[in-house]
Amino acid sequence: MTGVFISFEGGEGLGKSLQAARLVESLKARGREVVHTREPGGTAAGEHIRDLVLHAREAPLSAEAQALLFSAARAELVREVIGPALAAGRLVVADRFFDSTLAYQGYGHGADLDGLRAMTRFAVGDVIPQRTFLIDAPVDVVLARLGARAGSRWDRFHGTDRAFYERVRDGYLRLAAADPARFVVVKGDRSEDAIAADILREVDALLGAPA
Ligand code: TYD
Repeated sequence: MTGVFISFEGGEGLGKSLQAARLVESLKARGREVVHTREPGGTAAGEHIRDLVLHAREAPLSAEAQALLFSAARAELVREVIGPALAAGRLVVADRFFDSTLAYQGYGHGADLDGLRAMTRFAVGDVIPQRTFLIDAPVDVVLARLGARAGSRWDRFHGTDRAFYERVRDGYLRLAAADPARFVVVKGDRSEDAIAADILREVDALLGAPA
């Protein structure tokens, strides 16, 4: 793999998707070829799987089944989009990748972590981000933002149980602590501009470009 792979992770409503999009724009403005992916989805099969998971209320899914579906979508995304882009030397920015499955289905919903790690590895092979930005903020911030968009499809999917979101946050922080060479934890309860500036500085360091 010759390209550079960067992923974004974190709770809902913390501006993760916006920051991924801002990074993509900044890099494109410098003339870099960037591929921006978003999970779940991103391929024809991935969009069908997204629909299946979204309708979990009408057809409830166990954490294990959720994890298998997210991983199936990811396996397809890696083979159709991310792998070829990296092989062509491009920069890939992924809005969520396998850490989401470990944090949400594993730490959040209680699926077996070793099993999830093995499944994830099977799904993505050696396509692993070089850098993962974890946008982190206290659960109060996540819940306030989720409340502000109450009725969104995703809070129906996970529920609005505070303990669930505490487990997800804690899980993400554990993943980051276990792999400090890959993760950068970014404080999410700050201005969009301050967060974007921190991320761009880290990416410049990764790419060896002047800040
Ligand atoms: P998010 O990325 O925040 O999208 P949106 O901007 O539409 O809210 O949310 C996607 C949801 O899917 C979020 O609740 C996390 C969940 N998810 C998992 O539970 N496991 C996974 O492996 C992935 C990729 C997402």
